[in-house]
Order: sequence, then C-alpha cells, then structure tokens
Amino acid sequence: NWTMDDFIEMEVANIRKQVGTKKVILGLSGGVDSSVTATLLHKAIGDQLTAIFVDHGMLRKDEGDQVMQALNKDLGVNIIRVNAQERFLNKLKGVTNPEQKRKIIGREFIEVFNEEAKKLGDIDFLAQGTLYTDVIESGTNTAQTIKSHHNVGGLPEDMHFKLIEPLRKLFKDEVRELGEKLGIPHDLVWRQPFPGPGLGIRVIGEVTEDKLEIVRESDAILRDEIKKAGLDKDIWQYFTVLPGIRSVGVMGDGRTYDYTIGIRAVTSIDGMTADFAKIPWDVLGKISTRIVDECGHINRVVYDVTSKPPSTIEWE
Ligand code: XMP
Repeated sequence: NWTMDDFIEMEVANIRKQVGTKKVILGLSGGVDSSVTATLLHKAIGDQLTAIFVDHGMLRKDEGDQVMQALNKDLGVNIIRVNAQERFLNKLKGVTNPEQKRKIIGREFIEVFNEEAKKLGDIDFLAQGTLYTDVIESGTNTAQTIKSHHNVGGLPEDMHFKLIEPLRKLFKDEVRELGEKLGIPHDLVWRQPFPGPGLGIRVIGEVTEDKLEIVRESDAILRDEIKKAGLDKDIWQYFTVLPGIRSVGVMGDGRTYDYTIGIRAVTSIDGMTADFAKIPWDVLGKISTRIVDECGHINRVVYDVTSKPPSTIEWE
C-alpha cells in the first residue's frame, strides 16, 4: 500500500539504476501519459532524456505552445519540437478514407521520430507512457478493432532500444495524480481524451490547412463556452467536426453557400459506450452564434444527438 510520493521515490531510483549514464529518448504527443512519463524521467535523469515532440499540425489551438511552456520552459524537460505540419499534409493530400488517414499519420509520426532519433545517435533507451490498462487490454480492445488506434511511440524497428515504461502499473487516475505531484499544470493533466491523429479525423474527408483551421477555431470556441458554463467536468469529450458539406444560408441581404460545423459532446465512463450530452439549449445557442461569427465560412451548426453505439464518438 504505497502513496504517490513513495511511488515517485521508488521509480526515480529504479530509472537511475536502469539507465546509469546512458541516454533515453521519448516520443511526446502532448497527451497526459507521455507528458507524465517525460516529467518523471526528467526528475530521475535530467538531460540524459531527450523528448521528441512531433507536432503534426493537427493539435488543438495553442496546444503545442502550451506543452512547450509547461514541460520545457517551466519544468526544464529537454524537448526537441519538430514542426511537421507540411510533411503530414503532403502525405494526406487526396486521401479521404479514415483508416488510411490514421495509418498515414501513424506511419509519418514514427518516421519523423526515427529521423530525429538517428540525428541524436548514441541512444540506449526508449521511454513510453504505457499504462496498466494498455498492458492488459492490448489486442483485445474492441474500439481498436473498429478503428486502428495510432498511439505515439511505436518502437522504431531498425533501432534496438531497451524499453522503459514507468507507468505500466498505474491506472489513468493515478497517472493524473502523479502528473499533478510532478508539477504539470492541472489543465494539461485533466484534459479530455484526444485521438493521436488529432484534428485530422475531425476534418471529414481530405485534410487541408484551411479546413483544419476552421475545426481548430470552432473547437476552441466550444471548449471556451463549455468551460464558462461549468460543464467541462461533466462531459467526457466535446469537440467540433467539419463534415465538408455545404448548404445554403442567408446573411445580410445575400445568400451564402458555406460549410456546416457539427458539435459532438458525450458523457461516458470509459469511451466504449457513450451518451450524447444534454447541453442546455442556451449554451448551444451561444456556441452556434460564436462559431458562425468568428470562424468564417460557416453558415450552419448542428448538434449530434446519437449515442455510442450505434455511432462512434469520433465521426471518422
Ligand atoms: P470512437 O470514435 O471509436 O472513440 O468511439 C473512442 C475513443 O477513442 C478515441 N479515438 C482515438 N484515439 N487514436 C487514438 O489515440 C485514434 O485513431 C482514435 N480514434 C478514436 C476517441 O477520441 C474516443 O476517446
């Protein structure tokens, strides 16, 4: 029966013993698990850790900067940020199939990570934010069989790293507690689940920079209003999607022919099943008005009122 302080002390000692004077790399996604792993390793071995943050350009608004501020500037974790949006967009050109998009993004992620790792050279260990649930569920997760989940840190095949997985005995809520103890900001530690392929699977069909921008802005407005309404703790996930269809609207004296934004918000325990969230109409109304006013090229906002099953949480 250990406390989180005991855990930190024990793991720091373990990591130091295992690593010695050697070097460690880690793929940082901006998510909770890899952020906590990086911070714990930094506490144990300082600059012997290099975290590689592959920014695929499909993160939420300001997310990349927030990760750099919290982990690199404030906590001192040694991070190489690779701004790779153009590379990812080039690979995604003309691709509309959701599974193909996931595979391309996953593959490119590992590719960029490998290139950076090779540049560093002389690395013995790869750290990963594997959790207890990943260990017991691997391969049997139903969601995984429906959608091929890409998770950061796929082992580079031509490099022979030894693995370090300091979170493999922890559950998600313990990882969050650990993160707070290590000084990671509350908002980052308690953020809602966010898929590895990011906004890339919230632009339905082909991903373009313009469409990403619309989804990113509308998502930021939605998050802002949900938080202001005090609903952020009650809703499991909430985000916007851009289906890519256009419809007729009227603005001023003119007819418009613009995009529709879909709002998705669900309550859930584990993401396996979900119910659409009963957000008050006035909150939805405010969100809708702001999205149309502030995003540009949107003349219609719809609310997704399906549960999972039969729908999935994401639209792709
Ligand atoms: P679905 O859409 O299958 O989502 O109901 C269930 C949970 O998984 C997340 N999700 C993903 N996570 N890579 C991820 O890392 C993915 O490709 C992916 N697709 C869905 C989704 O956000 C929800 O939390």
